Amino acid sequence: MSTTTTTLKEYETFGTQFETQNLVDFDSSRVYGDWRDEFHKNGCVVIKNVISKERAQYYVNKQLQWLHNFDLGFDEKDPSTWTADRLPVSFKGGMYFAYGSTHEKMAWEARTEPGVVEVFEKLWETKELISSFDGMNISMPNRKDLNWSPWPHCDQNPARKGMQAVQGLLNYAPNGDKDGGLMLMKGSAKLFDEFFSRDREQDDHEDAPPPEIKFMDLFLFNKKDVQWFKDRGCELIKVNMEPGDFVLWDSRTMHYATLPEGDQIRHVQYICMTPRKFATDEALAAKATCFQNYYGTTHWPHCNIRPSSEKPMRNGEVCPKYRQEPFEKPVVTDQILKLAGVKSY
Ligand SMILES: [Fe+2]
Repeated sequence: MSTTTTTLKEYETFGTQFETQNLVDFDSSRVYGDWRDEFHKNGCVVIKNVISKERAQYYVNKQLQWLHNFDLGFDEKDPSTWTADRLPVSFKGGMYFAYGSTHEKMAWEARTEPGVVEVFEKLWETKELISSFDGMNISMPNRKDLNWSPWPHCDQNPARKGMQAVQGLLNYAPNGDKDGGLMLMKGSAKLFDEFFSRDREQDDHEDAPPPEIKFMDLFLFNKKDVQWFKDRGCELIKVNMEPGDFVLWDSRTMHYATLPEGDQIRHVQYICMTPRKFATDEALAAKATCFQNYYGTTHWPHCNIRPSSEKPMRNGEVCPKYRQEPFEKPVVTDQILKLAGVKSY
């Protein structure tokens, strides 16, 4: 096992890279005969039944149990308890990155599902992959205590060129028109370079991260930008999914998550993998430190490793339920160490 780790400083990002070309060249004339054809055409695709419905229900139960573990009075059967004071602290009404959640056993089980790994192996045409330490999304419908607004963004820095990361989410609960979830500007990845060929100002969004948190791969679009993509033939679509489905999108794609409005709780694990060869030694060392300390990262597995070491804040103070370690730690296998970037292939 690699023992190289990194000393963390707050808000620091490791392994910063801004390549100006594709890291992998894909032959645009190639016909794959599977979901890759649609993915390379549109920059996004839904892949059906990556895990079974039964397995998806297992993860729903695990996520609910995780919320119960905080002992704040949350009851999935009682909507009156679907309030911030009865839930751990989340972002945008249901994205969880703190409390060691990105290294919960269930998160690593999802990352190592054979069907999930196979998606990224096929996409990148290598078995030597590393994974992000990404969050999950558990969103209750019709929350009365949230001020929510759309935040169209992409998760790739405008300085980068070409396809460098492809993010995904594994969907656990039925997700139809009313169930919130992923909005994608279909086709926008292909227009990334054209859009950013001139200087663009980020939208001054109410939920934009504070400037001291330097997310190197986040750009927030304003309303005019959204129209710019629509005027060029892109379509803003709500991705509907069944339990066990997986959606992949090129990180250049404009997207955001909407809150559910029906009666179904949304259950999702964000997962992203890229080839280990994309990562520098500095990035791998930072990943090892994150792995050992149960810190999360952004969606990016191989560079700009930004340990999510901030404590969750509740009413201006550190959440009394703050914890650094998962409730249920993963059973660390050889496969997990390799995906974490800790062990080489
Ligand atoms: Fe995103």
